[in-house]
Amino acid sequence: MTRGQARANGLARLRASDDPSPALAADLLLADACGIAKEVLYAHLDEALPPDREARYRELIERRAAGEPVAYLRGWKEFFGLRFAVDDRVLIPRPETETLVEAALAYLRAGRRRRVADVGTGSGAIAVAIAVNEPEARVIATELSSGALEVARANIARAGLAKVAEVRLGRAADTLRQLLVEGAGPFDLIFIDADKPGYPEYLELSLKVCRPGTVIVADNVVRQGEIVHASSADANVQAVRRFHEMVAAEPRLSATVIQTVGVKGYDGLTIALVISD
Ligand SMILES: C[S@@+](CC[C@H](N)C(=O)[O-])C[C@H]1O[C@@H](n2cnc3c(N)ncnc32)[C@H](O)[C@@H]1O
Repeated sequence: MTRGQARANGLARLRASDDPSPALAADLLLADACGIAKEVLYAHLDEALPPDREARYRELIERRAAGEPVAYLRGWKEFFGLRFAVDDRVLIPRPETETLVEAALAYLRAGRRRRVADVGTGSGAIAVAIAVNEPEARVIATELSSGALEVARANIARAGLAKVAEVRLGRAADTLRQLLVEGAGPFDLIFIDADKPGYPEYLELSLKVCRPGTVIVADNVVRQGEIVHASSADANVQAVRRFHEMVAAEPRLSATVIQTVGVKGYDGLTIALVISD
């Protein structure tokens, strides 16, 4: 069987499984099964596919057809031009978060600011993308899950950032309190992307480790528009509503909420600037 024939079979299988992007998935998985880049694959579709690689490709296609994300099947995801190891212990970094990293880098550079806290780091994508692109940055990330922590630490080590980016295991609120005790702040940029019920507490603690000029960013705050429903029974929605009430009532903050439309549908970011002590 040629690579092209295997590709046609894989594509047909994924189409039948209602894959949202069957052609891309079929090509990426075939390229991985062949151990080559997708672009090289396109140039050599008439080459024979050895039986072991064909078997591997079939297995990947079946797992994809059963719903496994392509990034988990490949074991990595590109984010901000960098390769991140990912598996089912972490969420897959989203393309729309790249815009956030771009804005964060511009902000850090413009004000010669460097201290970053990443609350709920997952794969470490934000922490690593910032530290790679802003050598002056110093990032402290928090993570509750030991599996995710391992992934984030591996990504940090692979990028050669062990001296400038650190991940601490534990509840984010405990870690933020510990950072306060250590005098590790003030932070110039604080990303909040851990459990939503914790958002009000993370805001309270962030306000203790900031200074005028600090930017606090909270992700996933629109929740498909659900946050307009005051009577929502969803604990995440209620916590994010409380978070916004606190932001609105806090005289030290000037804030805005930006709705985003991305791979997860309608969501958004709160961006709050600390304007006074
Ligand atoms: C949405 S993911 C983070 C994604 C990451 N910021 C990105 O953009 O790729 C949230 C992470 O927060 C972690 N988390 C959940 N509750 C936490 C808590 N109480 N303290 C610290 N981390 C927590 C989860 O384990 C998960 O890895």
